[in-house]
Amino acid sequence: MVHDLVGVGFGPSNLGLAIALDERATQERSLSGVFLERQAAFGWHRGMLLDDATMQVSFLKDLVTTRNPASDFSFLAFLHQADRLHDFINHKTLFPLRAEFHDYLAWAAARVAGQVRYGHEVTGLRPVRSEGRVTCLDVIARDQAGRESTLRTRNVVFGPGLTPRLPTGVTPSTRVWHNEYLLHELAALPEDAAPRSFAVVGAGQSAAEVVDHLHQRFPAAEVNAVFSRYGYSPSDDSPFANRIFDPEAVDAFFEAPTEVKAELMGYHRNTNYSVVDPDLIDTLYRRVYAEKVHGVQRLRMHNTSRVAGLVEGPDNVTLTVEHLPTGKQTPLIADYVVYATGYHPADPRPLLGDLAAHCATTPEGRPAVQRDYRLVTSDDITCGIYLQGGTEHTHGVSSSLLSNVATRVAEILDSIQTRSGASARG
Ligand code: FDA
Ligand code: NAP
Repeated sequence: MVHDLVGVGFGPSNLGLAIALDERATQERSLSGVFLERQAAFGWHRGMLLDDATMQVSFLKDLVTTRNPASDFSFLAFLHQADRLHDFINHKTLFPLRAEFHDYLAWAAARVAGQVRYGHEVTGLRPVRSEGRVTCLDVIARDQAGRESTLRTRNVVFGPGLTPRLPTGVTPSTRVWHNEYLLHELAALPEDAAPRSFAVVGAGQSAAEVVDHLHQRFPAAEVNAVFSRYGYSPSDDSPFANRIFDPEAVDAFFEAPTEVKAELMGYHRNTNYSVVDPDLIDTLYRRVYAEKVHGVQRLRMHNTSRVAGLVEGPDNVTLTVEHLPTGKQTPLIADYVVYATGYHPADPRPLLGDLAAHCATTPEGRPAVQRDYRLVTSDDITCGIYLQGGTEHTHGVSSSLLSNVATRVAEILDSIQTRSGASARG
């Protein structure tokens, strides 16, 4: 069987695509799709599913609403079936708990489970040639028992998400973690030895949430935040700036010359990167101040500082913290160090194998991508390779976020449908 599309990864992006496929299934020329996900079950950044954390995007930017406000896959439809709609309305918020949004995503994923193969990691693509052209792709996957399987398709849609980023030279260990795995690492701590101290590196949303969580969860532990800024900076969530996440902004960004793209990213980086929700900043400040009042300080801010050295011993980690204005170096001993130093988009190119040589790149060496999210390839490749995520350099800041998922999946399906109609006629 040749599928119309195979999705690599089943996070919110490809889940949104599966729903759009499902909603178009009644159309005359409906498409068939299968999604391969390496996790054993649906999960969205489970290691950061902190109890108090809220969404950074309005619930109206769920998997469907901006594409199809009447869809029964909306967050409101989920609340309705969970019998929580009135309670949510009374809450008067656009920003649900992340845990609740995770439940919503898992509920939606369960309803399209027939399209997904969990526990399948995609390990590579193989071109299928016909009359000198690559018309299809074989998507090779390995299941959790190590068995290989292959799916043949006319289009691949990559949605592999983000990969945790650690500073050069830092290797994860039982005492040194990236925040992506926080809850998993905490769950694995020895039960007989409560942690006495943590260091958290970074000053973005993840770092602030981790500091907040550790400080509350371990009431006897010291929590040291280490970052190079003077203080946490607030995320710009104001209405005009927020337009940078709208579908129209994708058009403007895509059309813009490279230098204008760079300027736009510079102006509006603080809508997303290295910034913290202002309420959380207030919470942390209030806590530091209260500790000063009470004379017991265990939440410490090492601002304008960087980690200049890390030595891991059997019982703890010694960081050398350098105060940037003075150059003074001070040892900081912590039981555990959490690097909340961000993410980068997973690069699908290693999975392309020989095909990578047929895909165009930008002068900066990044994948060249069309407005419809299809990789620019040589003319002999007539199958489609699409990206959901990893297109910030071409489509702007919303690429790695939920803001445009509902709209983007429709654009990708329209493109696949148009191309399949054209090839059927041609
Ligand atoms: P996502 O990373 O969610 O999913 C990718 C999936 O692909 C994963 O399930 C992975 O296992 C799978 N995969 C990868 N490679 C594979 C392979 N080779 N084979 C098979 N499967 C593979 N954004 C926002 O707009 N609002 C928000 O509130 C938040 N909150 C947030 C919290 C935290 C802690 C983080 C780290 C990030 C956010 N984000 C966010 C940004 C985040 O990128 C976004 O919410 C979505 O996760 C993007 O969905 P994707 O499906 O593109 O990637
Ligand atoms: P981020 O915004 O990229 O922040 C990374 C932080 O690490 C920055 O403070 C950065 O420093 C610092 N850093 C980077 N490299 C470093 C290095 N080598 N040494 C020391 N410090 C370094 O990453 P994030 O906080 O993980 O956020 C990523 C995305 O996830 C965002 O879209 C965010 O909104 C989302 N997120 C959402 C939620 C939620 O919904 N509740 C929770 C967490 C994350 P500078 O300050 O110098 O830049």
